[in-house]
Amino acid sequence: MRTASFLGAIGFLHQLRFSTAQTLSIVAHQDDDLLFTSPDLLHDIQTGREVRTVFLTAGDAGDLSTGYWEQRQAGSQAAYAQMADVDDVWMQSDAGIQGKNIPLFTLAGKPHISLAFLQLPDGNIGGNGFPTTGSASLQKLWQSEIPSIQTVNGSTSYTSGELLETLAMLMDHFQPDRIHTLDYVHEYGNGDHSDHYTTAYYVQQAAGQYTTPHSLTGYTGYTIQSMAQNLFDDDLTRKQSAFFTYAAHDSKVCHDVAGCGDGNEAQWLRRQYAVTGEPVANARLVTADGHRTVGLGAKVVLDGTQSRNPNDDLLTYQWTQIRGTEVVLSSATTAQPSFTSPEFPDTLDFTLVVKNGNTSSTPARVTVIATNLQNVARNATIAASSQNTESGQTADSAIDGAVNGYPGLSSSEWATVGGKAGSTLTLTWATPQAISEVYLYDRPNVNDQVTGATIDFEDGSNVAIPALDNYGKPTRVQFARKTTRSLNFTVTSVSSSTRNVGLAEIEVYGTYLAV
Ligand SMILES: *[C@@H]1O[C@H](CO)[C@@H](O)[C@H](O)[C@H]1NC(C)=O
Ligand SMILES: *[C@@H]1O[C@H](CO)[C@@H](O)[C@H](O)[C@H]1NC(C)=O
Ligand SMILES: *[C@@H]1O[C@H](CO)[C@@H](O)[C@H](O)[C@H]1NC(C)=O
Ligand SMILES: *[C@@H]1O[C@H](CO)[C@@H](O)[C@H](O)[C@H]1NC(C)=O
Repeated sequence: MRTASFLGAIGFLHQLRFSTAQTLSIVAHQDDDLLFTSPDLLHDIQTGREVRTVFLTAGDAGDLSTGYWEQRQAGSQAAYAQMADVDDVWMQSDAGIQGKNIPLFTLAGKPHISLAFLQLPDGNIGGNGFPTTGSASLQKLWQSEIPSIQTVNGSTSYTSGELLETLAMLMDHFQPDRIHTLDYVHEYGNGDHSDHYTTAYYVQQAAGQYTTPHSLTGYTGYTIQSMAQNLFDDDLTRKQSAFFTYAAHDSKVCHDVAGCGDGNEAQWLRRQYAVTGEPVANARLVTADGHRTVGLGAKVVLDGTQSRNPNDDLLTYQWTQIRGTEVVLSSATTAQPSFTSPEFPDTLDFTLVVKNGNTSSTPARVTVIATNLQNVARNATIAASSQNTESGQTADSAIDGAVNGYPGLSSSEWATVGGKAGSTLTLTWATPQAISEVYLYDRPNVNDQVTGATIDFEDGSNVAIPALDNYGKPTRVQFARKTTRSLNFTVTSVSSSTRNVGLAEIEVYGTYLAV
């Protein structure tokens, strides 16, 4: 970034401000715009709209000492200059919110393009923050776990109310008729980065206070990687080259088509999806431990109350059983139907579709395991060939009772460090267990997948495990009852895109034997 005189551009800015159409994008990190809101962003630049992008976090990834986040800002500038097809020369000013330090950069060759950086700390994927920035995160601010949040250099701080007001004022100053942000429809833990959701929740609220007529579009983040590719040809190549222009400044992402392979960035670049308007179903099972296991002949309650409705239309519910012994629901159209589980062990699956007026959600699925056995994995001691302790992806997380993991809650899964075939997970019990079935859940991200494994028991016998579902659905393996004090899960093959194999969860059903 070079700096030029700002004066020449001011008159031009004023003319444009009140004549052409404005797109204000508010995202979390210096590449969310390029990965998730483009090619809409590219089209807005190409058609001459006035475009301003506001980045809430510094995108520091907890690294404040190597100039990493400053480089990401430079990367954003390079990408916008490339998209606008002018030199990477910017004029620095301030966004003009009283009491807040918000650098605003205007592109010298196309002054209707500008970038503002709030420089709040990167909240880490699960919202836990990084120790270097006091473990602060936007999610903690949103959820009132912290009273305020400071910029990475400590020069400005925001309470939750001040951040909301700042965003509303940025809207008011810029007068957008289009506001773009990330996914404000889904809840935390549904596969996207905590900062993406939180940024979008703040933007949706701020947009509610902004009275100029406008459209609000929320773009789906990480989870688009499992949706159908919908960008091709020019849109795809232009989106890629803008991202690669940015990537030359970011050491943590891939830098060209060959280097990206079929990894996350490659998948995101091939897609753009918006969330606006659609309701989102959330199907859960109400049990004391929040788990999928219920007893035999037990009363079971399904719960759809966490479904999200982006507007004020009435939400309706439709439950359908798609697997297992047929049961009778108290009602298939209430938010919380109940039923009696079978008298014998079985796995039941239900889907929930919610509808608001004219729009239906995609189906959400909930699995109910009826068993007279207990998940004895919870009581095992566990060890792995390797584990990523730094990010909380430890062996213990494979038996924490929660099926989750990157790109959702990383600390709820086990991930090896570079482990592929040959990786092992060993469960050991203080007393022998009589066990007869295992449920395995792959890491939820699409890159890492177990495609074959074995489980060895103390007596030398073993069972073969087929490829695990790549989207986190359980693989159930039943076998003749074994009495054992340990079992070894050994990965024998992985998908070609696997970097760090692991498991979201392992459940082992059996009974505790007295010594
Ligand atoms: C903090 O960053 C802002 C924005 O880049 C800058 O204007 C300010 O001078 C910095 N403050 C300190 C204390 O370094
Ligand atoms: C349903 O249709 C009406 C009229 O076409 C529209 O105004 C409204 O936004 C739609 N609702 C949803 C949830 O899409
Ligand atoms: C196993 O762990 C559960 C809690 O996870 C506990 O309630 C139960 O008593 C434990 N059983 C044994 C035999 O240790
Ligand atoms: C599991 O692996 C560990 C470590 O390699 C070994 O000590 C143990 O005997 C194995 N147990 C079984 C049941 O294969």
